Amino acid sequence: ATSDPTIFIIFGGTGDLNARKLAPALYNLFLDGWMPKKFSIIGTGRTKMSDEEFRTKLLEDINQFSRSGKAEKEKWDEFIKNVYYQVSDAKDAETYKEFGKRIDAHNAEWKAKANVIYYLAVAPEFFPIITTNIAKAKLAEDKKRVRIVIEKPFGHDLESAQELNKLISSLYDDCQIYLIDHYLGKETVQNIMAFRFANSILEPIWNRNFIEHVQISVTEQLGVQDRGPYYEGSGALRDMIQNHLLQLLCFVAMEAPNSFNAEELRNRKVDVLKAMRKFTPEDVRTSAVRGQYGPGWIQGEEVPGYRQETKVDPNSNTETFAAIKFFVDNWRWHGVPFYVRTGKRMHQSASTITIQFKDVPHLVFPAEATDSWQQNRLIISIQPEMSIRLQVQAKRPGIDMVLNTVDMVFDYKGTYTNEAPEAYETLLLDTMAGDQTLFMRGDQVEAAWDLIMPILKTWEGKKSLSFPNYSADSWGPEVAEALIARDGFHWFTLPVNGNKKAK
Ligand code: BG6
Repeated sequence: ATSDPTIFIIFGGTGDLNARKLAPALYNLFLDGWMPKKFSIIGTGRTKMSDEEFRTKLLEDINQFSRSGKAEKEKWDEFIKNVYYQVSDAKDAETYKEFGKRIDAHNAEWKAKANVIYYLAVAPEFFPIITTNIAKAKLAEDKKRVRIVIEKPFGHDLESAQELNKLISSLYDDCQIYLIDHYLGKETVQNIMAFRFANSILEPIWNRNFIEHVQISVTEQLGVQDRGPYYEGSGALRDMIQNHLLQLLCFVAMEAPNSFNAEELRNRKVDVLKAMRKFTPEDVRTSAVRGQYGPGWIQGEEVPGYRQETKVDPNSNTETFAAIKFFVDNWRWHGVPFYVRTGKRMHQSASTITIQFKDVPHLVFPAEATDSWQQNRLIISIQPEMSIRLQVQAKRPGIDMVLNTVDMVFDYKGTYTNEAPEAYETLLLDTMAGDQTLFMRGDQVEAAWDLIMPILKTWEGKKSLSFPNYSADSWGPEVAEALIARDGFHWFTLPVNGNKKAK
C-alpha cells in the first residue's frame, strides 16, 4: 500500500530526470498528502556531495520545475529532512553494502520493514551492472517489498532488449520490475481507456466498419537541446515511436480487457503489437518516411538545424522526424490504416489522436450546402490541450441550408477544477502501491522492437540522404504529406485555440 514506509534510492540522483521530473513529482505527492508517513529519498551518483548540498540543489530544481511553483518554506523543511545523498560507484560492491546499511537503519528507526524502490534514472549502459549488483548484494530478496524502476530506452534494438530482459528476469520476479513509459502516466492517455470502456456508445462503432483511418501525432517545437550524444544513437523512431506512439496505438486498438487488472490489460496491449503487420523492405519504402530539421525560426527565435546542434555530427543522418503507416491485422482493424508521426522542431507542440469515421453512405444535401463538408472525427487531444472532441456536421443558423463542422467538446479545463497530476506523480505513486498497470512489460517492449526492426535496418542501410528536409517551424518533410495524401487523407492538426467558433 502507499501508506507503507518507503525508501527511494534514485540512481542518477544529480541528473536531469531527477531534477526535472522525479524530485518535483515526489514533492508534489508529499504536498498532496500521498507520501507515506515514513519515507526516505536517497539520491545517489558519482559526484561527491553532502546531504546539505544535495538538498540545496533539489530546492533549486523544485523552484524551477515543480507544477506547484516555488517551494513553501514550512512544507519544504518537512519534506527535505527525509532526503539524503550517497556518493556511489555502480560497479563497486561497497556501494551496495552502504545502501543495505541505510535500509537497515531506517527499518530499525521505523520499527517496520520498508518498501524499497530502486529507480534507475541513468544511462542504459548502467542497467545491467546496477540491477546485477543490487541482486548480488541480496538487496532484492524480499519480492513483495523491493521494486526496481527502469527508464527508457529499454534496449537499442530487439536483440539488446531481449538480452536485458533475460538478465533482469533472472534476477527479479516480474512483480518487482517496473519499466517506465511516462506517456502511460499522462492523465489524458489513461482516459482513453475510461472513454472506450466506460461508455457503451463507442464500442459498436469502434472498428473497421465505421472507422476509416486513425492518426496518432506527437509533434514538438523543441529541438534536441543538449541531448545530441544520446539522440545521435537514437533518432525519432527509437526515441518516440518504439515506445510512446506504439503505446498510444495499443490503447486505441486493444480489445476490451476482462477487468482493470495489470496483467489482463497488458496482455490485451501485447495482442495489438503482435497483430501489427510486419514490414517487408518494400513496405518500408512505401510506408515509412523520415526527416531531419534544418535551421529556422521558432517563436521569433533563430534556432540551429539538427546538424548544427552541439555534439551532433555535421553530416548526421539521424532522423528527427518519422511518419509510418501501420496496419493491425485482426478482425477489428482489417484494412484500417494507422498513421503515426512524430517530429522535433515542428510548428506546434501537440499530441493528438484522430479517429476519422467513414463518410455518410449517401449525401442528401445540395452541393452548395456542403462546401465545408468533413467526415466525422473524434479527436483525443493529449497535450497541451486536454480534451476529447467529436466533430460533427450541423446546420449553420440562417435561412439557407448550409452545413459546417462543429465540435462537441469535453474539455478538462471547463469540466474539472482540480489540476491533473504530472505523469511521474501517477507513476511514482503506482510504484509505491505496487500497481504495474501503467508500466510496460518485457514482452511488450520486445514486441514493439520486433515491429520496428525492419524499418530500422532498412534505414540504417541507406545512408545518403538529402537531409535536412524540413525547416524548423514546419509540419515536417513533404514526404510525410505524400505518405498520407496518397491514400486521400491529410494530417490533422488542432488549431492552437482549439475552441474557435465555426463561421
Ligand atoms: C522522451 C523523449 O521520452 O519524451 C524526448 O526522449 C521527448 O525526446 C519526450 O521530448 C516527450 O515527452 P513529453 O511528455 O514532453 O511529450
